[in-house]
Amino acid sequence: MKHIQAKYEDGVLTLSMTRAEKKNALTQEMYLTLALALEDAGQDDSVRVVVLRGTPTVFSSGNDIQDFADDGSGKEKLASVRFMKAVTSLQKPMVAAVCGYAVGIGATVLLHCDYVVASEDARIRFPFVDLGLCPEFGSTLLLPALVGQQKASEWMLLGSFVLAGEAQKAGLANRVLPNDMVFEEAESIARALAKKPPAALAATRQLLKAASRELVEARIQKERDIFQTLRSTEDAQSIFNSFLSRAR
Ligand code: COA
Repeated sequence: MKHIQAKYEDGVLTLSMTRAEKKNALTQEMYLTLALALEDAGQDDSVRVVVLRGTPTVFSSGNDIQDFADDGSGKEKLASVRFMKAVTSLQKPMVAAVCGYAVGIGATVLLHCDYVVASEDARIRFPFVDLGLCPEFGSTLLLPALVGQQKASEWMLLGSFVLAGEAQKAGLANRVLPNDMVFEEAESIARALAKKPPAALAATRQLLKAASRELVEARIQKERDIFQTLRSTEDAQSIFNSFLSRAR
């Protein structure tokens, strides 16, 4: 699969984003591949845990900005919607291994993971306001619930990079380790989870998320509606185009 690699071992499915030359910016094709893999993992009893990772240099720079630039259709990109649904519907633990940048949906996906291992050089950013957009993936609900209202406002309104230590202190990362230990640690956590009784693990996970499940789904929808409107504004389109022309 182009730009996504899947590896299965001992109950653990590891999904790696491998478009490092573009900082693992997610295309619709990548979203679809990830969504299909997660949907299959949900149906496959041999998969107990999913690990999501990037390369040793970057987790993900988020949605491919080319995708946000107006194609004239004004249409929503459905593969990203399907990916979000696949993540929120997965009834199995998800462990994130974050090396380097985690930006945009590369940051908001972490709020849906059950365990996050980050490298000392990890840099997490919610850049939506600076792009003329609003945050997505239920993050306007999940981030303040996790790190507190003031911290979430700071991170989302100012959009500065959050360093690994601060992310851990605020509760967004469980562990921070030297870069070369991150994948190993994530796999070891995943293998430990894979050995737990699956029904008890699934039930506990479901209970942990029960209070917020419906609220998260409703918020994802609300954010999506606002995001779609903002995406086609002149402000946002000129920000995307200046990022893209800088890239050429
Ligand atoms: N969409 C499309 N292309 C992207 C991208 C994205 N989200 N993020 C990075 N790229 C591309 C760059 O355009 C560049 O392409 P080029 O080599 O053809 O010029 C390449 O990836 C490397 O990125 P670069 O910006 O040179 O790397 P950096 O190390 O200086 O900075 C980031 C890394 C992640 C801080 C920076 O790329 C960035 O801010 N990206 C945009 C993040 C973002 O706003 N995402 C949208 C979330 S909603």
